[in-house]
Amino acid sequence: MQLMMSWSAEIPTKENLPCANGSEKMLLTAMRYSHLLLKEVLQPGDSALDGTMGNGNDTALLAELVGASGHVYGFDLQALAVENTKKRLAEKELLPQSQLYLKGHETIDQTLAENVQLTAAIFNLGYLPKSDKNIITLPETTKIALTSCLRRLKSKGRLIIVAYYGHPGGPEELATVENFCENLPQEQFNVLKYQFINQKNSPPILFCVEKK
Ligand SMILES: C[S@@+](CC[C@H](N)C(=O)[O-])C[C@H]1O[C@@H](n2cnc3c(N)ncnc32)[C@H](O)[C@@H]1O
Repeated sequence: MQLMMSWSAEIPTKENLPCANGSEKMLLTAMRYSHLLLKEVLQPGDSALDGTMGNGNDTALLAELVGASGHVYGFDLQALAVENTKKRLAEKELLPQSQLYLKGHETIDQTLAENVQLTAAIFNLGYLPKSDKNIITLPETTKIALTSCLRRLKSKGRLIIVAYYGHPGGPEELATVENFCENLPQEQFNVLKYQFINQKNSPPILFCVEKK
């Protein structure tokens, strides 16, 4: 008797395999994995948010993925971050779909219209590399922003947090984020934690919250 089997998983390609770290046999860093998780859900025309623009790497990826018909909302409280992001987006002709705010992400609800819904949001917690290390994301304001994003997340949408925590204040913020994530009701959300557990120097930890 012949056994028929069906396999419905997505066919792996070089782009979607979790081993595209330069070498095809390496696990993805938290940063690269965050990009893969965004690429899996974002489509042209969607809306997405970058809660910590920094140098604009993530904002540019979001703007590319949602395309000219989509919307990207970026927040950062440092003028340098907004300038750097604007420059990066301009170079790639991604400014038309991007709205950049020189504001803390805790103001998301005061800044965006009530009806703005998100397919994805990303936060890179910590400080802006090669800049003032005293300007860091903080537990309470981060929590406010995460709550705003979850409320606006569409079904099957993803909220991604990449927590850098090797600086003073970092462990406290990580604890807040972890507590926030692990207490989300499983009837409404799937929550993933992705972490290298044998590496030195506090490598970033990724959390992905998927709305059911
Ligand atoms: C790790 S960096 C982000 C890196 C960025 N994702 C990139 O691609 O370059 C963290 C950023 O968060 C910003 N930040 C700190 N507190 C913030 C707040 N309350 N709201 C928005 N941004 C904040 C900092 O100014 C800094 O640019």
